[in-house]
Amino acid sequence: MVMDGVNKNKGVGPLECVVLHPRDRRPLYQQLAEGVAFQIRNLGLAPGTRLPALRDIAKSHGVALVTASQAYEALAAEGLIASRTGRGTFVLSAAEAPHSNGRANVSSPPARARDRDVEGGDAEASISRYGAQNRRVAALQLLRWKVAPGAIALSNGHTAPETYPLPDFARCYARTFLDDPAEIHQYRADRGDERLRELFADRLRARGADVSPDDILIVSGAQQALSLVAESFLEPGDFVAAEAPTYFAALEVFDQRRVSWVNLAGDADGVKPASVRDGTKRFSPRLIYLNTAAHNPSGAFLSRSRHRAILDAAAESKAVVVEDQTCWPLCFDGEAPPPLFASSDGANVVLIESLSKLLFPSLRIGYIAARGAAMRSLYAAKLRADTFTTTVAQRALVRFLESKSAARHLRNARFLYRRRRDALLHALRRVVPEGTVVSASRGGVNVWVELPKGWSSVDLFGHAAREGLLFLPGAPFYPTMPAQNTLRLSYGTLPESAASDAMARFGRALRSYAAARRSGTRLAGDDAGRGIVAAV
Ligand SMILES: Cc1ncc(COP(=O)(O)O)c(C=O)c1O
Repeated sequence: MVMDGVNKNKGVGPLECVVLHPRDRRPLYQQLAEGVAFQIRNLGLAPGTRLPALRDIAKSHGVALVTASQAYEALAAEGLIASRTGRGTFVLSAAEAPHSNGRANVSSPPARARDRDVEGGDAEASISRYGAQNRRVAALQLLRWKVAPGAIALSNGHTAPETYPLPDFARCYARTFLDDPAEIHQYRADRGDERLRELFADRLRARGADVSPDDILIVSGAQQALSLVAESFLEPGDFVAAEAPTYFAALEVFDQRRVSWVNLAGDADGVKPASVRDGTKRFSPRLIYLNTAAHNPSGAFLSRSRHRAILDAAAESKAVVVEDQTCWPLCFDGEAPPPLFASSDGANVVLIESLSKLLFPSLRIGYIAARGAAMRSLYAAKLRADTFTTTVAQRALVRFLESKSAARHLRNARFLYRRRRDALLHALRRVVPEGTVVSASRGGVNVWVELPKGWSSVDLFGHAAREGLLFLPGAPFYPTMPAQNTLRLSYGTLPESAASDAMARFGRALRSYAAARRSGTRLAGDDAGRGIVAAV
């Protein structure tokens, strides 16, 4: 929970996460300009932030000076930045922009008709094109930049190391090395350990899915599953529909395929079927990514009563539904509903589960359940990616899952996170201002907070950081068109006894931000960063 290390990346400029791709057809200056514009519009690169000098960008990004200069010119022409003689180049606020009719897209080629934000219709589905941006690096950069020793970090979505069943696993690993034949350490090209695939198929069958071990592919964590899915199903320019908000590292993987995004709306019962219907009808997405259990960041579970309508809409538009069930066992209100996969009989639903949240992330084991042609392409992608997932961990996991420790661990983990959630929600509700919406968090380790309209979680971040409290601003969780008044608080590593201190800090930050808003003063990003360092 407590993070240490002060501003270790002092030399890191705000453009560290703008990535240039040699195979991208856009000119380098345009890639650079669009990357910076993305940071400003969506990831909270604050007005007043000083941008690196041209020669530093040329050096850090390996481009010619003239390329860096053209990028800044394009950004200046769009009213996003301005150079001040002798002082440097700075991000402008919307009010400072020379063109008061809003900020146009930096992209110089005319946007394709379907790449524009779409108005009209249900308004729950809206699209935009974000290519190759690096949401996670941007978010991590924001955190690293301002972390002070003693700060309480509710920013990382981590589980509690004190719950990890390490002595049990030590025994399972030892027996794997001592008792299993040496052949298990050989190269292999199968879909994973046979017994482990049986166990995963059994778990899914117990939740209502008609599935066999042949439909299971063992992978190295859910993150790899997402990469394999992206490689198997997506072409550049395809539409992908996803809940807004949703797990941002999944969006980031799909971003790398240069997809166009469709935002889907959800509530406490998961994604809304009307939104899926609308989104699929209007944009025919190739893929629909849904986090259907212990949703990250809201903690919602998709209600079974919504399955049919969602599957029908997906089938009609021939979309593949990718169902992320990473955190499903960590449910606090009775048993988790069955997965969407259990209601589908065809080949158009792919399920992902990982053991990272239930057991511990270093295990790096998850699986994909898929059928027919979908499974064949995923398996081929897995062979290309890393041939096979560590057999040692798979065998140790089989031993653990077959022992009594597994059920005991699950009971203990659910109990612990439920109490941590209750403590955080109780303390949080006492400090948030009227007009704030807090998600119920029925499972997982996260709470999603919507501040009153017009508030900025990035600006609040500076005030919270000064109080020694870190959260994750909400923008990276949106496929497109982020709501700036949102943020995620993660309680997995926050002991119950620390919840009221953490939320007292949050409350002070909210009050100090509200006062600054009223008086029209703004804690610029750099000042917030300095505030933290000075407070240490
Ligand atoms: C919804 C969701 N999917 C996938 C992942 C990635 O998990 P893994 O550690 O298995 O790669 C996470 C991790 O936080 C997650 O919350």
